[in-house]
Amino acid sequence: MAARRVLPSLARTSSSRIAAPLTALPRRQLTGLGDQKKWRRYQSNGAAAIKIHYEEQTTRTTIVPDFSRNTLDTHRFREFDLSGGVYIVTGGARGLGFCLAEALAEAGGKVHCLDILPNPDHAWSSAQSRVAPFGGSLHYHQVNVTDQPALEAIVARIADDRGRLDGLIAAAGKQLAKDSLDHTIEDAQWLMNINYTGVFVSATAAARQMLKYKSHGSICLIASMSGLVANKGLVCPIYNSSKAAVIQLARNLAMEWGRVREDGSGGIRVNCISPGHILTPMVQADFKRQPDLRELWQKENMLGRLSTPEEFKGAAVFLLSRASSFMTGGNLVIDGGHTAW
Ligand SMILES: NC(=O)c1ccc[n+]([C@@H]2O[C@H](COP(=O)([O-])OP(=O)(O)OC[C@H]3O[C@@H](n4cnc5c(N)ncnc54)[C@H](O)[C@@H]3O)[C@@H](O)[C@H]2O)c1
Repeated sequence: MAARRVLPSLARTSSSRIAAPLTALPRRQLTGLGDQKKWRRYQSNGAAAIKIHYEEQTTRTTIVPDFSRNTLDTHRFREFDLSGGVYIVTGGARGLGFCLAEALAEAGGKVHCLDILPNPDHAWSSAQSRVAPFGGSLHYHQVNVTDQPALEAIVARIADDRGRLDGLIAAAGKQLAKDSLDHTIEDAQWLMNINYTGVFVSATAAARQMLKYKSHGSICLIASMSGLVANKGLVCPIYNSSKAAVIQLARNLAMEWGRVREDGSGGIRVNCISPGHILTPMVQADFKRQPDLRELWQKENMLGRLSTPEEFKGAAVFLLSRASSFMTGGNLVIDGGHTAW
C-alpha cells in the first residue's frame, strides 16, 4: 500500500534532521481524510511531533510536511534551522559565496566551500570560530567547477563521508566586460563554461548525491539581475546572457527533480537568487577600471546605494531551508528595486 512505501523513506530523509529517529504511532491513531489524503502522526523520542500529509498520485508521490500547529515545538522559527544538514557552496572562497556559506553555517549547517583559489579569504578562520557555537562548521576544498570529474569526485566524497547532502549554492562565477565586437569565440566559451556549464555540472553533481541519499535537498543558483536587464554602464553581453541562462536552467532542473519518487528519492527544489550590485572583489575590480560606475549604479536603484554580501544571507538560508518548502523554479530578485522601474 502507498503509505508503507512512502512514509519510511520520508522518515529516513528530509525530516530526519528534525525528528530522527521517527517512530510511527499505532495504526488506530491514523486519521483518514478521504480517498487520497491521510494524516499520520509521528513522534521523536517523546519530544517534537510532526504531522505528515501525503497524497498518492497515479504514478508519483508528493509529500507535504506540515509544521503549522506544532504545540510541542518551542524552537523559534525551526523551519530556518539547518542543524545537522550538509551543504556545498561553490565560489565559497570569497565575496558573496563565502558570506552565504557563513550564513548556512550560522544556521547550523556543515558547509563545504569549493573554489578554484588555493586558499579562502583572510577572514576564513575567524568565520570558522564564529559559527562553531551555532553548531555549524566551514570546510574548504580547491576545485575548478569546469572540471566535471574532479567536481563530481569531491561532491561524492563529501556526501559519502557525511552520509547525506542537503543543499548547494552555486556562486562561482566570472565577469568579462568587453564590447560584443571585441569578444572572441574563446572569450564567449570561457565565460559560458564557468558561469553556465559550471553551474549546471555543480547542480547535477549535487543532485546525484541527493538522489542517492534520498535527501530532499535544495539548490540555489546565483544568477543576477543582469540576467533580466542589460546592465547600464557596463558592457558585458556574454556575462548577462550566462545569467539569463542560469535563471532558465533553474526552472528546468526544478521541473525534473521536484517530485518525490516511489523509492523516496527526488523532492529536490531548485531556485535562483538574482542580486543587484554587491560590493564584492568582482565589483571592486569594475570600480578600479571604471571609477564612474559606482555613482551610476547607486543612482540606478530605488534605495540609492549598493548592497553588501550580508544582505543576501537571509535569502540563502530561506531558500536552503524548509522555510521555502513550497518554492521551486523561482527567482528571488534582490536588487534594491533596480529592475522595478
Ligand atoms: N558582485 C555583484 O554585484 C554580483 C551581482 C549579481 C550576481 N553576482 C554573482 O555572484 C556570484 C559571486 O560573485 P562575487 O561578486 O562574490 O565575485 P567574486 O569574484 O568575489 O567571487 C567569485 C568566486 O568564484 C570563484 N570562481 C571563479 N571561477 C571559478 C571556477 N572555475 N571554479 C571554482 N571557483 C571559481 C572565484 O575564485 C571567487 O572566489 C557570481 O556568480 C556573480 O556573477 C555578483
